[in-house]
Amino acid sequence: MRKPVIAANWKMYKTVSESRKFVNEVIPACTSITEVEMILCPTFLSLAHMCEDLQGTPIKLGAQNLFWEKEGAYTGEVSPYLLSELGVTYVIIGHSERRGHFGETDSQVNRKVKAALSFNLKPIFCIGESLEQREQGITNKVIEKQLEQGLLEMDQSSAINLTIAYEPIWAIGTGRSASLEDAREAISFIRQWVSRAFSQEISEKMPLLYGGSVNPDNIGQFLARQEIDGALIGGASLKEDAFIKMVTIANNIK
Ligand code: 13P
Repeated sequence: MRKPVIAANWKMYKTVSESRKFVNEVIPACTSITEVEMILCPTFLSLAHMCEDLQGTPIKLGAQNLFWEKEGAYTGEVSPYLLSELGVTYVIIGHSERRGHFGETDSQVNRKVKAALSFNLKPIFCIGESLEQREQGITNKVIEKQLEQGLLEMDQSSAINLTIAYEPIWAIGTGRSASLEDAREAISFIRQWVSRAFSQEISEKMPLLYGGSVNPDNIGQFLARQEIDGALIGGASLKEDAFIKMVTIANNIK
């Protein structure tokens, strides 16, 4: 049985005090959530504070990016070693906003995934197609290339620590989520690829998430699908009550 995962990607939202207020408000409700892997991914600025606030709670912390070197003259970058040492558990890698706005390539994504794993951080590796690619009917081809290149030269012992999020670009922040069938199809395709690339056992254990306009009203439908293990949520994860609703639904549904 795979544990459902609810991961909040706060992107470039929330001040440090807003982040801490959120944590204080959700902790009481989340302590009774036993069946869900709950992950909050705030800005880098809030990580150290939230690490303290989340001590002793079931909520894990994730970063939204990292650089692949441990240390050095890399002005403005954030090291996987420092994140790991702080107590961060997860890191989002290859989000389409990083690929799109900052020109991150598959090969850079691959270096980041490997760096994360070597410092005991669990990557939430993001892939997904654009609207144009979906309309051209090349969704699976695009996803396959992202998988092959983003996870290049990865061994089985590393792969076991991966989470993959399928986030179609056209569904992110648009209020237009993928249909259940589209999400199910893409995620099944990813699981088959993982089984071929690593092993069936790893594919059965790996959490595969859907992301793109997930909210308290539609999350139940996605999680009810046996293939979909959880959600990576942007906008709707910024509100305390919506986050509590979504983790509660996940706790009851799976
Ligand atoms: P929204 O939930 O706001 O569509 O964002 C999804 C996302 O990009 C999560 O990483």
